[in-house]
Amino acid sequence: MFHFSRGIPPQEAIPSRQIAEHTAAVLREHEDRVFQYAPIGNHTGDAALREQLAAFHSVGADQIFVTNGSLQALDLLAAHLLAGDRKIVYVEAPTYDRAVQIFERHGGRVSGVTLQHDGLDLDALEARLATRVPAFVYVIPDFQNPSGVTMSEAKRRRLVQLAETHDFLILEDIPYRELRYDGTAPAGFFELAPAGRVLTMGSLSKILSPGLRVGYVIGEAATLGALAALAEGTYLSPAPLLQAVAAQALRAGLAQENVARVRELLGPRHDGAVKAVREQLGEDALLAVPHGGYYVSVHLPVATDESTFLKAATADGLKLTRGSGFYPADAAPPEGKVFLRLPFQSFEPDEFAAGVERLAAVASKG
Ligand SMILES: Cc1ncc(COP(=O)(O)O)c(C=O)c1O
Repeated sequence: MFHFSRGIPPQEAIPSRQIAEHTAAVLREHEDRVFQYAPIGNHTGDAALREQLAAFHSVGADQIFVTNGSLQALDLLAAHLLAGDRKIVYVEAPTYDRAVQIFERHGGRVSGVTLQHDGLDLDALEARLATRVPAFVYVIPDFQNPSGVTMSEAKRRRLVQLAETHDFLILEDIPYRELRYDGTAPAGFFELAPAGRVLTMGSLSKILSPGLRVGYVIGEAATLGALAALAEGTYLSPAPLLQAVAAQALRAGLAQENVARVRELLGPRHDGAVKAVREQLGEDALLAVPHGGYYVSVHLPVATDESTFLKAATADGLKLTRGSGFYPADAAPPEGKVFLRLPFQSFEPDEFAAGVERLAAVASKG
């Protein structure tokens, strides 16, 4: 069975040995501290870790709030941002499926705006803003999960303008931002927008280790204080030990070093994946050339419905993730097509090409 796997880092992209060594050093040097509760009362995370994360993003340490993975940041932000009267959340269609579930769990009315090769369809968004202003717009602007699309800088600037004009927040989720294999990065929203207009969620999962469960929010003190109160009311703080290990690893430059290593490791896998999709499925099927991250994706014409197609794929030894699951309830792939996310991060080019060849064979049968 060929399995287009989950979006998890390949084991060889995690510097486990070095993290283990930093863990040993933390246990030696800070055993008095890391087995005690963290302080309470507006506690926004391990001070050393916040300093390191702030330096990584060239922001102030008082703009950082640490969470258990960025998924918890999403949950706390959803609880905070959806507590008022505004319940609408606009998301890219397709988008990260867990985010939609989290927003809905907190009472959000999630609505999809079509994702184009260079980011959200802002004309469509603007038309909706005339009558329905959201609590926030959630975007994954760099090498998006699931599509691989990156939002152009021009669109980022226009989205900030729309947010200013119509008074809504932008929530950007940037776990893949550092994993660029070619080209230059557009400015991040947190660099483009006036203070208070953007909340940014970051994560060490894809650049260092997902097992550390270190995510964070970059935002203003008032919002971070509200998140800290919610956190204190549920789990007090992320685990001090893991935060201390992350701080120590960042201080030693391990994240930067590992990003360089992961780019070298995954760059050829990205190139191989794009080449295989172009050759086997055609340029038109590609949503975009990703230039980074973990995912390439396609809209594939099919003669049947999605379930029948996925069943036929399984019968032919190909396990695919259900693409419609990445669309919020009011959006769908284009008529007559299925959406498929093809994570390439764990496959050498020839392995990935073999999987895409099998996919092309299933598609050609309709
Ligand atoms: C867009 C996006 N946001 C958030 C996450 C969750 O990351 P974390 O491990 O920091 O919770 C993922 C993980 O795949 C993701 O793709």
